[in-house]
Amino acid sequence: MKKSNNINWITPFEVTIMKAKCPKEHVNFMIEAVTLLLDNEILCKELDASDGLVGNVTNEVHVPQLAGTEGINNWIKEQAKKYVNRNFKKNESEYNKYQKAYFSQEPKISITSEWVVRMNPGDFNPAHFHTNCHLSGLIYLKIPEGFDEDAGGNIHFLHGNPADYYENQYQVVPKVGDMYLWPSWLQHFVYPYKCEGERWVMPFNILISHGEIKGV
Ligand SMILES: [Fe+2]
Repeated sequence: MKKSNNINWITPFEVTIMKAKCPKEHVNFMIEAVTLLLDNEILCKELDASDGLVGNVTNEVHVPQLAGTEGINNWIKEQAKKYVNRNFKKNESEYNKYQKAYFSQEPKISITSEWVVRMNPGDFNPAHFHTNCHLSGLIYLKIPEGFDEDAGGNIHFLHGNPADYYENQYQVVPKVGDMYLWPSWLQHFVYPYKCEGERWVMPFNILISHGEIKGV
């Protein structure tokens, strides 16, 4: 709560979106792996993820967990842990105190799914949120040369209703290596972009578990 003079500005319902730069070695590894994956039509068919997703895009393919992918996955988990720790500390509500008191261990972070979205000009993703997870995120792997941040292709986060003097959208311009993490219930969408070339992004879902409940 910010205090100025005799006024209290109460803003308890903010949404936390985390942004971090993924280390180059992990991004480069994934670009190579995803290039091999997307070049392989048979594999793309086998690992097709489009059934459970809403995107109107060229490909949505599950990322196979191969030797080497643990590097980026461990990095993602570290970021998710920072997100969880920050929010527990920042919002030490009665609810969080209750959680701390009754769970037997510190939050354990698991990546439950990870896929790659290949977009071409005109592709888009309608407003949606992710289910069966606590956090969702993405890492940008490829952005077309000449990508114009005003010509679609940005991710828009949506919260609340549109109204005068209230921003219910937050827009992110994609950059290779940028990672964003947000609560999975937060709606988001991507307008079609217009420049030539492919846009690759690797979204993922995260589940947080606390082990046994400290019951009697
Ligand atoms: Fe999404």
